Amino acid sequence: MRGNDVTDTAAPHRQDGPDWWRQAAVYQIYPRSFADSDGDGLGDIPGITSRLPYLAELGVDAVWLSPFYPSALADGGYDVADYRDVDPRLGTLDDFDAMVAEAHRFGIKVIIDIVPNHTSEDHEWFQQALRAAPGSPERARYVFREGKGENGELPPADWESAFGGPAWSRLPDGWWYLHLFAPEQPDLNWDNPEVRADFRKTLRFWSDRGVDGYRIDVANALMKDLADPLRDMGPISYDEQMADMEDGSHPFWDRDEVHEIYREWREVFNEYDPPRVGVAEAWVKNHRLVLYARPEGLGQAFNFEYLKTGWDAQELRSVIDVSLRTAQEAGASATWVLSNHDVVRHASRYALPEGADSDEWLLSGGTKPQADVERGLRRARAATMLELALPGSAYMYQGEELGLPEVAELKVEDLQDPVWERSSHTRKGRDGCRVPLPWTRTGPSFGFGGENPWLPQPADFGELSAEAQEGREGSTLELYREALRLRHKLVGTDESLAWCSDEASERDGLLHFVRPDGWHCLTNFSTETKPLPEGEVLLSSSPLTGEGLPGETTVWLRDGAGQG
Ligand code: GLC
Repeated sequence: MRGNDVTDTAAPHRQDGPDWWRQAAVYQIYPRSFADSDGDGLGDIPGITSRLPYLAELGVDAVWLSPFYPSALADGGYDVADYRDVDPRLGTLDDFDAMVAEAHRFGIKVIIDIVPNHTSEDHEWFQQALRAAPGSPERARYVFREGKGENGELPPADWESAFGGPAWSRLPDGWWYLHLFAPEQPDLNWDNPEVRADFRKTLRFWSDRGVDGYRIDVANALMKDLADPLRDMGPISYDEQMADMEDGSHPFWDRDEVHEIYREWREVFNEYDPPRVGVAEAWVKNHRLVLYARPEGLGQAFNFEYLKTGWDAQELRSVIDVSLRTAQEAGASATWVLSNHDVVRHASRYALPEGADSDEWLLSGGTKPQADVERGLRRARAATMLELALPGSAYMYQGEELGLPEVAELKVEDLQDPVWERSSHTRKGRDGCRVPLPWTRTGPSFGFGGENPWLPQPADFGELSAEAQEGREGSTLELYREALRLRHKLVGTDESLAWCSDEASERDGLLHFVRPDGWHCLTNFSTETKPLPEGEVLLSSSPLTGEGLPGETTVWLRDGAGQG
């Protein structure tokens, strides 16, 4: 499956300088599930450091760490008790510094998660607010309101939490506070200059420690319309509310004022050389995404349309075109995501029949409907190679390089995600993609560390482990390594692509484009073999039989032009 004219590069030419992020392959680490160095069942910072050689070998340009801050884990670490420290169970600031230094030694950049919309209820600010009187400066850092109804027994507005249920909780003194997520995650008041100043301090704190960039959690939520009386949403579903935020006038999602904050952050980013980078997590429509991704804003934004698109050549073609246009309009590079810590892993998404409801599938323990595991993995490998050939940054999620499926069989008593409780047991939530990684074939927690990982691993994880796949011809791990190695060689600074497929061939399930220097990417979405154009095969996501391009397969080819 390997091409033979592309010579190895020991250290892939990772981009340095201010544009390093534009076409970076970024690997998301969910620290509590990555590697556990002290055997307490939770992954930690020294665990990450110990696995950096693996990541260097894999060929990633950067890592993005989900939160590692002190946290009661009411929402997997997205409930931060102290933004300028490391959870003692995960290590110390010294461990963090050592990790960054080691990553940089390997030429790997470090991006960290910043969670500005809400703190943990354990944050000292919220604790002070609880002790302080209504109307006090301590309470002004959050969003406190009196309730409606005769005795204030009704929430101040009908706003719903993203996890289900009301977005307001009541304190014993009768006042209500806002939480767009879990009650343990009170929303900050971003109208308050003290809040703004404190986050700029946090950005400098980590930037001074050598952090290269930030992933901004729910970047579209920070500003709310808090003018009294608060605006009720009325009896519309959560999905309808989301669809409603087209023009920045929703009372709490994606308001225009949020961009003032990011303009201030950009000034902080630009104090550094190279400037620190930002990538927005904002589940908003493309025309709104541009605002986050502008160079005077965060600089880049996740594109979730690609992730949400099914296995369909025509739909993907149009999503790719729109995404590239959106990024270009913003002056950013495009981003591509197939999996992360919030969604069902793509190897499993592609294994489910068209239109299947993944929440129901999870509730059934992965039995209804039946997943076609082999097909899911075949498609996932093809989708990854397609993603890695597209112009822009590819954000990969830990374990996808092993082809890990979603762990759908988790027992409800093992679930940790607040979604399970908050949805009144109608959605199992996101734990199935957060199960600790298998590093070895056998042994306690398959080499993750310790006897009792915080979520149980299924028995077949050993065969999917890094050890089991290392050096095995055709394994998913080797496919990722080879794809990333080739990508480093083939990606230049040019972010263009030209389509070779047309409407008719796309209707037939074939996507084909060419990048500069004759680097072709063809994906066959159908199950029938298609003719393979002339050219040197660099890599293919499933074995080529010599008869053409097999179904559900991506191949990279190089044509005559540009070879040398
Ligand atoms: C983001 C995170 C998710 C978290 C939520 C609240 O969407 O990715 O994991 O639950 O924000 O912080």
